Parts: sequence; structure tokens; C-alpha cells
Amino acid sequence: MQHRIFVLLNLHFVAGILLSPPSNVAISSFNMEHTVKFLPGPGTPTETHFTVQIINYRKNSWRLVSGCSELTAGQMCNVTRAFKDQYNQYKARVQAFTATQTSNWTVSRWFQPLSDSETLPTHLHTKHRKDTRVNSLHVVHGNHHCSIFSDD
Ligand SMILES: *[C@@H]1O[C@H](CO)[C@@H](O)[C@H](O)[C@H]1NC(C)=O
Ligand SMILES: *[C@@H]1O[C@H](CO)[C@@H](O)[C@H](O)[C@H]1NC(C)=O
Repeated sequence: MQHRIFVLLNLHFVAGILLSPPSNVAISSFNMEHTVKFLPGPGTPTETHFTVQIINYRKNSWRLVSGCSELTAGQMCNVTRAFKDQYNQYKARVQAFTATQTSNWTVSRWFQPLSDSETLPTHLHTKHRKDTRVNSLHVVHGNHHCSIFSDD
């Protein structure tokens, strides 16, 4: 019996997959700044690190995100620069690793910067010019500018 347990553990070590995969891998976005967030899987040792890769719909191959190859639990991956094409679609995947083990990858859903980014006005200027009786509202959010004028 003892012998059999030893063999099983040894097989796991050779395969290298033993860590539980990260959970809740999601891409969130605010004002066109995009972030990959994740949680460590259950029982993940504290010395575990995490690596993030992305894929886009047009180029069908996974690639590393610079600055996100050795994250610790609770750190997020800034993919603003990597998701620069607003009309493309992207996915992220996260893998846990230690010196001797890796986890399976956990993959996010598809994300499109243009439609999935929440944008709120960052600047709001209102002007009321008494002399001309024109009200103007100037809204800036992300790269978009919009001016609204109205007569009194
Ligand atoms: C990793 O993925 C393989 C194949 O999908 C699965 O059989 C295995 O149980 C997974 N390992 C872990 C630790 O989740
Ligand atoms: C994320 O990256 C973008 C582009 O490099 C940068 O402008 C922004 O400040 C970064 N955000 C954070 C929270 O580091």
C-alpha cells in the first residue's frame, strides 16, 4: 500500500500538474483601462506565482503579457496596452506555478474593448453664457469628446 502511494505522488510530480487552477478569471474595464483579475484556486500555497497570457480573435496564438509573468495572489494584470485594438476581441488565461509545479490554465470569456468597457464622463464642463443665452455642455470620456449646445 505504501509503495503504491509513493508511485502515485511521483507520477504527479513528473506530470507537473498538481496545483489547483486559478478561479474567477475575468477582464474588467473602466475608462478604457483593461485589467485581468483572478483568485487563487483552493489550497494554493502562499509561495505560488501566477502568469497571464492573452489571445486575440485575429491572431490565434497565446502570448505573454509583459509585467504579468510572475504575479502574486491579489495582484492584477494591466492589459490596456496589450488590448490596444478596440475592435478586436481578446481572451486571457491564468496559470499558477511554483518552483516544481504548474496548474492548468483558466480561461476568461471573450472581451471586446469597445463594447465591454464601461465609460463614465471624466470631465464635465457646463457653461452658461448670459450674453448669448447659450448653454453648452462639454463631455470627455476616454478618447471621445462631445459638446451639446442649447438655446435658453
Ligand atoms: C487539468 O486538466 C486535465 C485535463 O482537462 C484534468 O484531467 C485534470 O484533472 C486537471 N488538473 C487539475 C489539478 O485541475
Ligand atoms: C495601465 O496601463 C496603461 C497603459 O500603459 C496606463 O496608462 C495606466 O496608468 C495603467 N494603469 C494602472 C492602474 O497601472
